[in-house]
Amino acid sequence: MSVAIDDVVARETRHILQTYKRNPVTLVRGQGVRLYDADGREYLDLLSGIGVASLGHAHPALARAVAEQAQTLIHTSNLFYHPLQGQLAERLAQLSGLPRTFFCNSGTEAVEACLKFARRYWYTKGEPRAEFIALDESFHGRTFGSLSVTSDEHYRTPFEPLLPTVKFIPTNDAGALRAAVSRSTAAIIAESVLGEGGIHPLTPEFAAAIGDACAKTGALFIADEVQSGLGRTGWPFYFQALGLTPHLVAVGKALGSGVPVGAALVGQQVADTLSYGDHGTTYGGNLLACRAALTVLEEIFDRGVADNVKRVGVVFGDRLRAIAAKHAIVKQVRGAGLMWGLELERDAAPVVPAGLERGVIVNRTAEKVVRLLPPFIITEAEAIDALGRLDAALGAVGAQA
Ligand SMILES: Cc1ncc(COP(=O)(O)O)c(C=O)c1O
Repeated sequence: MSVAIDDVVARETRHILQTYKRNPVTLVRGQGVRLYDADGREYLDLLSGIGVASLGHAHPALARAVAEQAQTLIHTSNLFYHPLQGQLAERLAQLSGLPRTFFCNSGTEAVEACLKFARRYWYTKGEPRAEFIALDESFHGRTFGSLSVTSDEHYRTPFEPLLPTVKFIPTNDAGALRAAVSRSTAAIIAESVLGEGGIHPLTPEFAAAIGDACAKTGALFIADEVQSGLGRTGWPFYFQALGLTPHLVAVGKALGSGVPVGAALVGQQVADTLSYGDHGTTYGGNLLACRAALTVLEEIFDRGVADNVKRVGVVFGDRLRAIAAKHAIVKQVRGAGLMWGLELERDAAPVVPAGLERGVIVNRTAEKVVRLLPPFIITEAEAIDALGRLDAALGAVGAQA
C-alpha cells in the first residue's frame, strides 16, 4: 500500500477524534535516530515517540524478527501455550527480580493490572484494603484506574467520579508519605522517575521512606517503570538505583520499541493470591509482541545498547549542564541515562517548533519542561549534533522572551 501524503491534515481533521494537537509535520520514514517528513526533511529524534523507540527507527534486527514472526504466527490468544511468552517472562524476571509477568498491550493496562492485583492481594488475605497513595505530578495513563492515580486535574476532571480511594501526597516528601500510609493502604504507586510530571527522579530519602512505610503497614509498592524502565536511565529499572524492592512493576514503552506491548511484573507474594480468571486480555503477550520484545531486550542487554545509554548518557548530562549555563531561561537540568528534563523559567512550548525548524524533535511537558527521551542507540556524535540544535533553539526562544 502506498501512503498518499497529500490531504493528510484535511482528512484527519474530518475523521480523527481531535484529542491530540499535532505538530505540523507528517513523518513518513525513519532510520536510526533520524526521522524524515513527507518533504524529505530530516529530523534528529530526541523523543522516540514518547520514550518508545528504544532501538530507534527501522532497526534491522527488530524489522527482521517482526517480519519473520508475521510470516509464522502472530496471535493465538491466551487459551493456548506458545513458545515465546515464557521466554520473555523469564527474561523480565532476570532483569527485575520479580518472578511472574502478566502481559498486556500498553502502559496504562500494565498500571491497571498492578492496581487490580494489589486489591486482589488484600481481598485474598481477608483484609480488603481499598486505598492507594499516589504522588502529585504523577502520570500513570488514561484508563479509569490509572487516571484515578494520575494527579493532573486537566486529565481527571471531565471524567470524574474516579476511584474515590486515592490520596495524593507531594513528590519526594517523606514526612507526608509517613503521615498518609496506614493499615488501610493497599498500595503506594510511584513512577521511579516522574516523566510526564517533568523528569523528577525519586530521591533516595523518599525511596527509603517508601520501603519503611511498606514494612510497617504491609502496604504494597507499585513501581511505574513504563517510561523509566528497561535501560532508559542506564539501569534495567530505576527502582534498582533507589534500592527499592517493589511488589509490582508496570512496564511498556521501550519494551516493544514501537510494537505495542506492556507488562505487569509481579512478586511471588502477590502472584500467590491470584487465580484463573482474575484478569485477562485477548491480545496480551501474543507471538508478535513477544518476539519483538525478546529482540529488543536482547539488543539492549546482550548487544551493548544498555552500555551505550550509560556512555552517551554522560555526554547528555555534561552537554545539557553546559547548555543550561549559557541560557538564562534554563532553570534546572534533571535526569539520568537518556531521560532528561530542562526546566525553563517560562513555558517551554515554543522550544518545540524552534527545534523542528532546526531539525531536532523534543517535547514539552509539565508546561515548563523540555523533555528528552532519545533512542537508546543514539551515538555520541548524534547526541552532540542534536543537542547543538537544541542549544540554537533555546537561544532563539530566549531572544524572544
Ligand atoms: C509513567 C507512565 N505510566 C503509564 C503511562 C501510560 O502508558 P500508555 O500511554 O502506553 O498507556 C505512561 C505514558 O506516558 C507513563 O509515562
